[in-house]
Amino acid sequence: MSDIKIIITEDGSHSLYHEDLKETYHSFHGALQESVHVFIEKGLRFWRTKSGLPKEVNIFEVGFGTGLNALLAAQFAKENGVKINFTSIEPFPLDMEIINQLNYPTSIGQDDLKLTYEQLHTSEWGKKAEINPFFSVHKIKTKLENFQTDEKFDVLFFDAFAPSKQAELWTADLLQKCYNLLRSGGVFTTYSAKGQLKRDLKSVGFEVETLPGPPGKKEMVRGIVN
Ligand SMILES: C[S@@+](CC[C@H](N)C(=O)[O-])C[C@H]1O[C@@H](n2cnc3c(N)ncnc32)[C@H](O)[C@@H]1O
Repeated sequence: MSDIKIIITEDGSHSLYHEDLKETYHSFHGALQESVHVFIEKGLRFWRTKSGLPKEVNIFEVGFGTGLNALLAAQFAKENGVKINFTSIEPFPLDMEIINQLNYPTSIGQDDLKLTYEQLHTSEWGKKAEINPFFSVHKIKTKLENFQTDEKFDVLFFDAFAPSKQAELWTADLLQKCYNLLRSGGVFTTYSAKGQLKRDLKSVGFEVETLPGPPGKKEMVRGIVN
């Protein structure tokens, strides 16, 4: 994948720049800070706290990419003694040559996450893998448009490229699909705060909240299934 370059974001953590799309995989203001804020704190921790600290969580992610969100979820699982089943879809898996250069375990400040990070990437596509007693990952090589399952999820990390770059993923039809993938009480979380996104999320049934964004970004959006 010669059209992908490694960059360093403002918090010192890596991200990737997709030259064809002219788009980064994370916020330039800090990849790690963004993922922790948008997906772990406002998504996973919020759902778990409001649900009475259940011992098991099913997460669905749109866009596995670098696996940063999966790694942070695995860290959360271990620290909080909760079992996380993490399902993620990705039509364009990254080369290990790129993955091996990313500094996420070090940026998080836990070098012992290096093995977990490697396991997340070397686990077989299309098969659920038990990474440790607290975390399983099921990576599926497909597009959201084609994804089908009977499973239901508690938290959905919507981490597609920005609406301005990949508008076809932010349609009301696909947001409806996301809504249908969630259980009652389920939480959809994303870094975008576009007005059209909020209107579409409402129109498919979500209760929509606009929240403060991660450093460098004013707002983000969360949707709840009531
Ligand atoms: C903004 S990046 C974020 C990826 C990842 N969560 C991370 O932290 O690195 C968006 C990801 O969505 C993937 N993607 C592109 N088209 C997609 C589609 N139709 N369905 C699902 N994912 C898609 C891209 O390949 C890319 O890995």
